[in-house]
Amino acid sequence: MEIIEKAPAKINLSLDVLYKRADGYHEMEMVMTSIDLADRIVLKTIEEDRIVIQSTNGFLPLDQRNHAYKAAKLLKETYQIKKGVNISIEKKIPIAAGLAGGSSDAAATLRGLNRLWHLNLSNDELALLGEQIGSDVPYCIYGGTVYATGRGEKIKQIDTLPQCWVVLVKPKKGISTWTIFENLSFEQLVHPETKKMLAAIQEKNYIQMASSTGNALETVSAIKQPDIKRIKKKMLQFGADAALMSGSGPTVYALCEKYSKAQRVYNGLKGFCNEVYLVRTLK
Ligand code: C5P
Repeated sequence: MEIIEKAPAKINLSLDVLYKRADGYHEMEMVMTSIDLADRIVLKTIEEDRIVIQSTNGFLPLDQRNHAYKAAKLLKETYQIKKGVNISIEKKIPIAAGLAGGSSDAAATLRGLNRLWHLNLSNDELALLGEQIGSDVPYCIYGGTVYATGRGEKIKQIDTLPQCWVVLVKPKKGISTWTIFENLSFEQLVHPETKKMLAAIQEKNYIQMASSTGNALETVSAIKQPDIKRIKKKMLQFGADAALMSGSGPTVYALCEKYSKAQRVYNGLKGFCNEVYLVRTLK
């Protein structure tokens, strides 16, 4: 039997870091939405009782460091599954990019194995398991537009966004989330207006939504990756309604209400960077 699951990327419309917690994690307040850039996860039962990972991307670890591997191992151990599985990851989402690619692969693996192994777990149960793999995995179980708090695992679904276009640019070198949080100095953070963003989404006010985008980690990541600032500037010059880094970076995205504008930003940026994508927000 073969199960196919789509693993969409996310962008942060808003990301705030409130304080460092006693457990070492940071308390967050985020607004996230899924976009139609997705990996494809194919799950197949195999004879031998083990987890095999294959990927179209040569840079992806295929062992226990892989998030999809962690997801399969966690389910196998928790529910004592004595079956093997081959997990094939057709990678479209850039790695270490701030788009939750690895977390989405893990979430898709949890959803898919729930079906393959007839576990009948609810999304809430899968999200609780996902928490053990990474802070963004619970969100990726549900997807859509959400308000997330805690370390990112407390999810509240909110209204769908006014539909818009997203141009993503991934600078060459990735950034590890851990290094950004590890060196965080709170004086550097520029806090976004999360309440304004939530109100704009509720009122389906695209202009207010675009003007309320903000990411507290941007100034920190931009020190490591000066390309972030350059790309943002170019996006705005080419007419983007807003330009922002996603997650802990380094991917920068432009929001455009009109397709013609998004195309102009896409074509303009293509001249400077290799990895440029033009996608839509998902409902
Ligand atoms: O949860 P996840 O494994 O994806 O996080 C990677 C690293 O990012 C953590 O080890 C932690 O250092 C940092 N982090 C944090 N606060 C969060 C989420 C992640 O400090 N809310």
